[in-house]
Amino acid sequence: MDRVHSVQVAGSDPRTVEVAGDQRLLDAFLRNGVYLPNSCNQGTCGTCKVKVLRGIVEQPTPSETVLSADEQTSGYVLACQSTPKSDVEIEVPLDAGCGPRHVLRDLTGKVHEIREVADDTVALTVRLDDPLEFSAGQYVEITVPGTGEVRQYSMANPPRSDDHLEFHVRRVGGGLATDGWIFDSLAEGHAVEMRGPWGDFVHDADADGPMILLAGGTGLAPLKSIALHALELDPEREIHLYHGVRYRSDLYDVEFWESLADRHPGVHYTPCLSREEGFGRHGYVGDVLVEDFDSLRGFSAYLCGPPAMVDAGVKACKRRRMPGRSIHREKYTPAP
Ligand code: FES
Repeated sequence: MDRVHSVQVAGSDPRTVEVAGDQRLLDAFLRNGVYLPNSCNQGTCGTCKVKVLRGIVEQPTPSETVLSADEQTSGYVLACQSTPKSDVEIEVPLDAGCGPRHVLRDLTGKVHEIREVADDTVALTVRLDDPLEFSAGQYVEITVPGTGEVRQYSMANPPRSDDHLEFHVRRVGGGLATDGWIFDSLAEGHAVEMRGPWGDFVHDADADGPMILLAGGTGLAPLKSIALHALELDPEREIHLYHGVRYRSDLYDVEFWESLADRHPGVHYTPCLSREEGFGRHGYVGDVLVEDFDSLRGFSAYLCGPPAMVDAGVKACKRRRMPGRSIHREKYTPAP
């Protein structure tokens, strides 16, 4: 039988979680509804680093770009990659704050709809067997059948509609999950297995100022969830969405956003084409944002898309005086 080890978080509010067999620290904490900072769940972002104060923890050697040599020597590990081999005490960085406490679960459901929305892009809707609690902006991992591999997709629907999940999927040439499954054989009624929710990129429902949403490609999905959630809380909310793609044929959900803007006077929708003119604005979302605003003081921003787009968007927000604490970001690359 697999050994079960107990892992305690040090501090004034000590929390203890039981971790079984090969289970990873992060998985065990989130399944018990105990928050640990997390983002990629793949060992590539460093968000989940914790310090081991006592006990033995195993992890694959992390890249020094994620966990520096000094940090590794000082006992830091990545909770999403680490498995305890004894009872353990860990310390979570003080600035980790708190985040969504939805319980991580194994999920099952059936494909409700697969809708082609743009060139090589589909909106996939899965009806869940049991509703899922999540925060706007979070994602699930979908199991690619017969491979043991998972792919991460953000929910595009707001949390209220938690008996179905909408995902935006872009085809990646030769990709195991996209070319080999979703765009090849997946059909309505097929069973889907998932795990979630994951991630700290979530709508801050306590902030009530105007919002900037910068999306690149299918990075639009979590921003759609965030926008809809914000409008549920305040239908008058000022929201500026910039959706960047290369060509008009890559753009999707245009009618949805135009209709949302018609119904909510605070919503402003700006599609941006980087390689073509003739529809929306020409250029990258960050550049268009800088053209449109002299100051972004008092705004908050949510950015999701390819790393270069997110980095440029963050620079654009800061150039227009938005403080770093108001900028929420998720770097995202379509999974193969
Ligand atoms: Fe990204 Fe663990 S390294 S969540």
